[in-house]
Amino acid sequence: MSLPSTSPTILIVAAGRGLGHALAEQFHLRGWHVIGTVRPGSGHTSLHDLAENGGVEIETLDIGEPGQIAALRRRLDGRVLDALFVNAGITTEDQDVTPGEVTDDEFTAVMLTNALNPMRVIEAFQDLATPTSLLGVMSSGQGSIANNERGRREIYRSSKAALNQLMRSYAARQQEPKRTLLLTAPGWIRTDLGGPDAPLAIEDSIPRLVTVMLDQLGTPGLRFLDYQGQVVPW
Ligand SMILES: NC(=O)c1ccc[n+]([C@@H]2O[C@H](COP(=O)([O-])OP(=O)(O)OC[C@H]3O[C@@H](n4cnc5c(N)ncnc54)[C@H](OP(=O)(O)O)[C@@H]3O)[C@@H](O)[C@H]2O)c1
Repeated sequence: MSLPSTSPTILIVAAGRGLGHALAEQFHLRGWHVIGTVRPGSGHTSLHDLAENGGVEIETLDIGEPGQIAALRRRLDGRVLDALFVNAGITTEDQDVTPGEVTDDEFTAVMLTNALNPMRVIEAFQDLATPTSLLGVMSSGQGSIANNERGRREIYRSSKAALNQLMRSYAARQQEPKRTLLLTAPGWIRTDLGGPDAPLAIEDSIPRLVTVMLDQLGTPGLRFLDYQGQVVPW
């Protein structure tokens, strides 16, 4: 359902918990209208609590289901997006599993969720976005090939590096590159995915990351930036 709104609108894919929920909260606090997605069957999430105040719509999407991407795109027909951000991501059950050990199924799941399907979401919704909008995807410092001197988390790293490469290809084929394209590295944060040993709390990173995103709005082209606004080497 289309809600009349004079606020800029962001679609955040995977906003039910963790960093995605914090992104939704920050954009909401800064006066944006937020359309946040959860996976079907998620039940009551933190995003539902946020939506009780108004200004936040909840939609459903599993990015691994092409039919759900098409259905959400149809439901949002006629809406105008000032920003689109795909946050969804997973890692391997054993973070340090090596290429020799990982199963084909687990490798495929991580690659599909972290690299291919976020870009499919960008392609599916790009025509709802304004010519000067921001299109972003949650990458990771672990996706930097240049910075990989210690190894570990090999499958996750390779999926985020693949995501970065797909986004660079997407950027390179834009005819009129007026949009802001962002790959973001939020730092290592205590979430279900980040685990309890991460040095950062969500509040240490996401408010700053949103400031970085908003500062980039209106500057065309692709950048890979961390939550402090620093360029991350490819
Ligand atoms: N935490 C860190 O240290 C860190 C660092 C760098 C980058 N990141 C990236 O930040 C993003 C969010 O991570 P997080 O730390 O907040 O992890 P998290 O708490 O595990 O949250 C992961 C999010 O991705 C969603 N998701 C997973 N598969 C999906 C699918 N097929 N379709 C739709 N949504 C899906 C989850 O939805 P459900 O609730 O339905 O499972 C959840 O909202 C990920 O891309 C991650 O790689 C995290």
